[in-house]
Amino acid sequence: MSLAGRHILQASQFDRSDLDQIFAVADQLRPVALRTETVDVLRGAVLANLFFEPSTRTRVSFGAAFARLGGTVLDTTGLQSTSMAKGESLYDTARVVAGYVDVIVLRSPEAGAVEEFARGTQIPVINAGDGPREHPTQALLDVYTIRDERRRNGRDLDGLRITIVGDLKYGRTVHSLMHLLRLYRDVQVTLIAEDSLRMPDEVVQQARAGGVRVVESATFEEGLRDADVVYMTRIQEERFKTPADFSRARGKYRLTRPLFERLCSPSAVIMHPLPRDSRVESRELDDDLTTHPRLAIFRQTDNGVPVRMALFALVLGCEAHLPESRRPARWYRPAAFGPHDAPMLPTEPMRFER
Ligand code: NCD
Repeated sequence: MSLAGRHILQASQFDRSDLDQIFAVADQLRPVALRTETVDVLRGAVLANLFFEPSTRTRVSFGAAFARLGGTVLDTTGLQSTSMAKGESLYDTARVVAGYVDVIVLRSPEAGAVEEFARGTQIPVINAGDGPREHPTQALLDVYTIRDERRRNGRDLDGLRITIVGDLKYGRTVHSLMHLLRLYRDVQVTLIAEDSLRMPDEVVQQARAGGVRVVESATFEEGLRDADVVYMTRIQEERFKTPADFSRARGKYRLTRPLFERLCSPSAVIMHPLPRDSRVESRELDDDLTTHPRLAIFRQTDNGVPVRMALFALVLGCEAHLPESRRPARWYRPAAFGPHDAPMLPTEPMRFER
């Protein structure tokens, strides 16, 4: 089924042909994401990028993707800056915004809020994270990244062994990722989390029903053995009831270079949806991995732009016009710019008052 005009609410709405189509368009748009070419199929179109929870890469990459297709982006951040702080319903807000723009990207702290919002609009709404539940576009760029990394070794996603570590209860990116992994053959997922942060049963059951082999590992070391991808996640501090609960949960699983090199498959890559928690008490990715060539985390974030461009082009039904709209980019870009050559910098966290 065509993606034109559809809401993007959860990863389970996609079938394999949707993914193949999104990734083919993303491949085509890579030179635009890398700033060697431009396209303008969305000239005149307007995006409302509504973020009611903190975000850096998701918000900016959605905005950059829309702008690089030639469209205009209106950003709103924080519930307090909207009329919902005056008691307006999600439905009314959605209906109002739909009168002004062509597509809405929404991040909300409430599970299910994006669906409710979508009911108030005729225009496409894209879920950029609804509380602890889902983050379907992150899962798309994660699968695109796995496909990319494995293609360098001549493989596809079929036969993948992925180990997912950390906060599997509140981590919405991994819930969506589990749904997409069902679309590939012979996938094994190993889950590593402490008891209170285990993957919700319904997500595990759906994955199993879809043919994924899901193993819950007793130990970190055992779970890393022979993995092709290690997908680390941040402990979701903002979802815990008390700071003490969060303190008890953080810092349990830390990937280090020796562990990674000793246990994972020789071509394994490390992924993380980011932000990683670089405070010493957490630090799920050790500093000794920072310059590791198989740390794919920034290739992963870079992929957010072509994947989200592809999604906009398809949801707004203009992908057929992309080839005729391609032009060379004419502005300065650093010679070293590219997906695999960004300098790696220290990971000291920013200090700010909480
Ligand atoms: C994630 C999120 O917001 O769910 N970040 C992202 O969008 N890339 C993961 C996180 O916050 O830990």
